[in-house]
Amino acid sequence: KKRIGILTSGGDCPGLNAAIRGVAKASYELFDCEFVGIYNGYQGLIDYKYKELLASDFSGILTRGGTMLGTQRTPFKNMRNIEDDGVDKVSNMIKNYEKLKLDCLVTLGGNGTHKNANLLREEGLNVIGLPKTIDNDIYGTDVTFGFHSAVDIATEVIDRIHTTADSHDRVMIIELMGNKAGWLTLYAGLAGGADVVLIPEIPYTLEKVQEALNNRRKKGKNFSIIVVAEGAISKEESEMTRKEFKKHRASMPYQTVSYRLAAQLNQLGFETRVTVPGHQQRGGAPSAYDRILATKFGVYAAQLIKSERYGNTVSIVNNKLQATPLEYMALKLKPVTRDDEVYKTGEIMGLTYGE
Ligand code: F6P
Repeated sequence: KKRIGILTSGGDCPGLNAAIRGVAKASYELFDCEFVGIYNGYQGLIDYKYKELLASDFSGILTRGGTMLGTQRTPFKNMRNIEDDGVDKVSNMIKNYEKLKLDCLVTLGGNGTHKNANLLREEGLNVIGLPKTIDNDIYGTDVTFGFHSAVDIATEVIDRIHTTADSHDRVMIIELMGNKAGWLTLYAGLAGGADVVLIPEIPYTLEKVQEALNNRRKKGKNFSIIVVAEGAISKEESEMTRKEFKKHRASMPYQTVSYRLAAQLNQLGFETRVTVPGHQQRGGAPSAYDRILATKFGVYAAQLIKSERYGNTVSIVNNKLQATPLEYMALKLKPVTRDDEVYKTGEIMGLTYGE
């Protein structure tokens, strides 16, 4: 009998429960097993907070948003660092993994989660990862679950803003999530028919944004839609040193990129308003696409557990599920690049990007 520990870590997203259900239901079908749910991400493993789960615990959760296990962002930059809170986190996790008599640990999460999963693998634990995030920025997989639900929500926001922008001849800025990666903003921008798309990977200039708005006015279009990722930065900011940038941001703590840009555009004579949908993009039921993707990932993870192919994350590349080594997934972020198909499609469709 295999004893499987399961945890969700990092920011939540739609599809986590669907993936948990996929792993569990498929495992029950494929081999003799039992599940231990670890609460609040790695913190639960550090603190020995868990619950023995029954098959009935996985019923009725397919459509439910959030995570039935709770989640937490690990507050430690480096789990190996004992200095920051005096706790030897890695040793605690190994000890508790053994105390729980686990045969493997399934971790559902984003980049940070994968780094920690890889660290536990290096320590000799049997770990399987599943890639989730609304940011879609996990290296080694074409798509993560949670992303398309967020794109749907953000697109609906843009659609609603569109009609009021049109009625009032206004410039509307919609700030979407994505601190380091612009996938969500790029996809929702294209789906929602935005005019300007600003993402962290490509710094913007006020001049280029202004030119785009003026060009629309010349064509008789008196309203415009700008979508901006929360982590987008201006060209000037991108040229600052780390220290200068920190100081610059500290001087305007509550002003997000969209409010700064709105202030500048208002000064230039464009009546501008800002909408920030925030965590709505992460809440609620997963889309049909994500329910299917999360279930596929979960079922594949169960197959990996059955054949004891530990040390891998489930990923999807060119529409094919595969096992990718954790150390590879934990390498770096996956940024939007200019040769991306969706990026190029937007370019030809006349979207204005940064630089
Ligand atoms: O990683 C997902 C994400 O939603 C990012 O897009 C965003 O920057 C961040 O999480 C927000 O985190 P929190 O919910 O901890 O404020």
